[in-house]
Amino acid sequence: MAKAGDEPITMLTAYDAPTAAIVDEAGVDIILVGDSVGNATLGYETTVPVSVDGIAHHVGAVSRATEDALVVADMPFLSFGVDETDSLENAGRMLKEEGAQAVKLESGPHTVDLTERMVQLGIPVMAHLGLTPQHVNQYGGYPRQGTEPEAAERILDLAAAHEEAGAFSLVLEHVPANLAAEVTDTLEIPTIGIGAGPDCDGQVLVFNDAVGLSEWSPSFSEQFGAVREEMERAVDDYVSAVESGSFPADEHSHRETDLDDLY
Ligand code: KIV
Repeated sequence: MAKAGDEPITMLTAYDAPTAAIVDEAGVDIILVGDSVGNATLGYETTVPVSVDGIAHHVGAVSRATEDALVVADMPFLSFGVDETDSLENAGRMLKEEGAQAVKLESGPHTVDLTERMVQLGIPVMAHLGLTPQHVNQYGGYPRQGTEPEAAERILDLAAAHEEAGAFSLVLEHVPANLAAEVTDTLEIPTIGIGAGPDCDGQVLVFNDAVGLSEWSPSFSEQFGAVREEMERAVDDYVSAVESGSFPADEHSHRETDLDDLY
């Protein structure tokens, strides 16, 4: 895995097979089947309602279409951390049944021991600190994290604790760039930033935001395409073609000569 000085790690989310194939063929290092599937594709307002069965469905689709990238399954809200056995079984299922190679846990003081246990059992864990969207109901939104010195220290300490527990990488979300740079300097494992400035070892974005499919995307994201506009154009053209009778044309149909006498 790259660390500062090597080529930055690229990571994107994907939730289905065709998208995963595009991302994989582009040479992206890590595909995250994020619980952002909840707001990005399932029509929920937050990631809170995403279930283990739900994410498993998407992890399977992405794994089947991915040849080279590392596939990481994001563990949904309350699928880990409530009961250890359930947490291990839920995470293990992503590897055993759905083809992921690692899981991501939105992390905090409650995931240090669990990370260690998963790693002992052979489940690679990506940690996630800073803004952890599964806490939306406590935050009351999606505020920047680690902005005060004490909060920044807590993130640094938790980052070190998760490295110590065996996490193989750490996502840092929506934290000041100088804090992310300090965490990156301090840790040996790579950091992957989203809204965390340029000094992380890698970057991650939500696919729909990156390609311009989302109706709204966060200020720290960037649209590298205009997929929504292109989809709208294509659907409008389809509707016009059907309504005007120009589709289907002769080349889209076939006639059976044997039936010509009958019909
Ligand atoms: O669910 C997700 O897409 C994520 C990324 C934003 C890191 O957790």
